[in-house]
Parts: sequence; structure tokens; C-alpha cells
Amino acid sequence: MQSENGQDLRAHWDERYRSGQTPWDTGITPPEVQRFWEEQPKPAAGAFALDIGCGTGLNTLFLARQGLCAIGFDFSGQALQLAVRRRDSTGRHVLTDSGGDATFVQADVSRLPVDRLGAVYALDIGCLHSLPDEVRPAYAAGVIRALTCGGHFHLYVFDRNISDGPGAKGMREGEVAALFDNKLEILAEEIGVSSTLASRPSRWFLLRKTS
Ligand SMILES: C[S@@+](CC[C@H](N)C(=O)[O-])C[C@H]1O[C@@H](n2cnc3c(N)ncnc32)[C@H](O)[C@@H]1O
Repeated sequence: MQSENGQDLRAHWDERYRSGQTPWDTGITPPEVQRFWEEQPKPAAGAFALDIGCGTGLNTLFLARQGLCAIGFDFSGQALQLAVRRRDSTGRHVLTDSGGDATFVQADVSRLPVDRLGAVYALDIGCLHSLPDEVRPAYAAGVIRALTCGGHFHLYVFDRNISDGPGAKGMREGEVAALFDNKLEILAEEIGVSSTLASRPSRWFLLRKTS
């Protein structure tokens, strides 16, 4: 995938992971996500969750520990190597004891390789806001298709900053609502004050599939 200025985006992300320039990789699942799952009933056995742009898999493993069949998608082979290493060093029994599991899939999230999966939850921390504008509608269509009716989508994005490079262009005012076009309703939108990811203006969205 190329950015609007022609850079190879996958190579960009691979290089970030190879060189360790990954300030988002804090080792802490954001409190917004932890709180959401503290308030949820235990998911049904076999329920799917997606971690979209999963990086080194910290949050995929968090979802697996909630009892979910968590699938982490990322196109960076470097990131996924670290994710698999993290899962294997955690010990699979820690996940299976909770009834969950974690799988990692190398894929471009603007063409999610799952259709009508019936996932109860999807998470995107810092991926959508880095996608080129022209692929964002296809990304949104993939998330809508993958979720079950009533399924939740938790999204963390930077506000738009047009001067940025390929890493994270951010989202325009009203863009999240427009992309999900009432197929996912916005339940909550909060300024990302508690995020440890960046000092840049950012937001958490919680959406739910309506039908
Ligand atoms: C800022 S990192 C966040 C990683 C992870 N969500 C976390 O919180 O640690 C953004 C991730 O999105 C991935 N990514 C960006 N564009 C992608 C695309 N088109 N397809 C798949 N993954 C992508 C990058 O490789 C990177 O791992």
C-alpha cells in the first residue's frame, strides 16, 4: 500500500518496529478498554473479537484473556513476529484457561479478510487514522461486515493534522460518523486525555452496530 505521497506504508511500519521507534507500544492496555470489559458480562464461548492494526499484540492478548477468540490483524511482518513471541512467552494456557485464544493474521486492514464473522467487539488503537483517505471507506465497510448486530467498535484516533507524514494523518471533524454512516451508531466520544500514546489531540469513540 502506498501513501498519498507515494511512500510504501508497510515498509514504513516495518522499519518503525525494526528500529524500536514505537512510542505507542506502552505495555499497558488503555484504561478505556479495560473499563469497557470490566463492565461487560463474560462473553459467550467462541465469541470473536478483532484487534485491527494490532502491532505487537498486547491488546489482542488482553481480549483473549477476557475469554474472547481474539484475532489481531496487521500488515507489518515485524510487528507480528513480536506479537507471536509475546503470545508464546505469555503461555497459551493463560489464554485458554480464560476460554479465549489469540491468533495473528498478516493483512491489509483496508481489505479485512473476514466476512460476516459475527464479531462481538472490534478495537482499533491508532490504525485507521494512519490510513490514506481513499481506503478509509473500504476499511469501514470491512468493520461493519465483520461485526454482529449490537457488536461494539472501540476506536482511538488522532485529530487531523495535515502537516504529518505517513505515520498518522488523523481524522477530520465528523469523519468517523460519516464513514460508519449510521450502520454503527456513536455511543460515546471522549477527548483522549488519559491516553499514554501521545500528547497530540485525540479521541476515543465507542460505536455499536445498529442492524
Ligand atoms: C500506532 S500502531 C498501533 C499498534 C497497536 N494497535 C497498539 O496500540 O500497540 C498502528 C499499527 O497499524 C498498522 N497498520 C497501519 N496501516 C495498516 C494497514 N493498511 N493494514 C494493516 N495494518 C496497518 C501498523 O503496522 C501498526 O502496527
